[in-house]
Amino acid sequence: MADTEAAPEPTDATDEGIQEGFVLTGIDGLDEMLGRGVPAGHIITVLGSFGTGKTTFALQFLMQGLINGEKAVFISLEEDVDSVIANAASFGWDLKRYLKEKKLHIVKLEPVDAKTTVTRIRSELPDFIKRSGASRVAIDSISLLNMLFANDTERREKLFALCKQLKSTGATCVFTAEVKDENPRSSRDGLVEYVSDGVIGLRFNERENGEVQLVIQVIKMRRLKHPRSVKPYSITDQGLEVHGDMEVF
Ligand SMILES: Nc1ncnc2c1ncn2[C@@H]1O[C@H](COP(=O)(O)OP(=O)(O)O)[C@@H](O)[C@H]1O
Ligand SMILES: [Mg+2]
Repeated sequence: MADTEAAPEPTDATDEGIQEGFVLTGIDGLDEMLGRGVPAGHIITVLGSFGTGKTTFALQFLMQGLINGEKAVFISLEEDVDSVIANAASFGWDLKRYLKEKKLHIVKLEPVDAKTTVTRIRSELPDFIKRSGASRVAIDSISLLNMLFANDTERREKLFALCKQLKSTGATCVFTAEVKDENPRSSRDGLVEYVSDGVIGLRFNERENGEVQLVIQVIKMRRLKHPRSVKPYSITDQGLEVHGDMEVF
């Protein structure tokens, strides 16, 4: 992770809610691959099956912001707050400190309580993000969030509305998304990749001899000329690291 970055001011949004500049993801190797990170104000979906490091990616992205002195919001539909904290601690990321300083907010949404959760997302979330002053937001996972909606029409409408609201906050966002079982290149709802400004794919590359390698690919990134090459990455006790100089097997 880099120590310095020109942190985008959350209040500096243009009419479209897009800020000037770029935001480092904090994923070593990926920022270099992209050049200067991702365009500020983008919604980036990290797409992959379980165990590919999506939650880690989201946490690492927020940590980079916190290191920069930015504020962050983590919205979890999967893990409880304590589990998120413990998870981050295993990478040496001390979230408790930032929680105490109110630089970080972790919100646990209960998927079982769909009605209340959906209402809360619509009515409270954008305001909450604005009030928190967060310039980075992560939703883990958008697939679980989408499952709260009754049908495809509602899902589409609500997801578009949510993205619009998030854009209006000016924050740069990371959504994690599960892939379809039958098509590991498409999200479970087949929707989120369309509404996102950027899509980063994480997957397992399996050799015939059973060897497995984790590989990453920037699939989409609006307003950025980016490589489409597939690169290996690893998850270590420091988080994700992309090996841009290595070839996949
Ligand atoms: N502290 C750690 N050090 C090294 N690798 C870890 C650590 N914590 C988790 N991992 C690896 O990351 C994987 C899960 O990452 P996670 O971000 O939870 O994936 P996802 O959200 O895509 O399911 C684990 O299966 C493990 O291989
Ligand atoms: Mg996860």
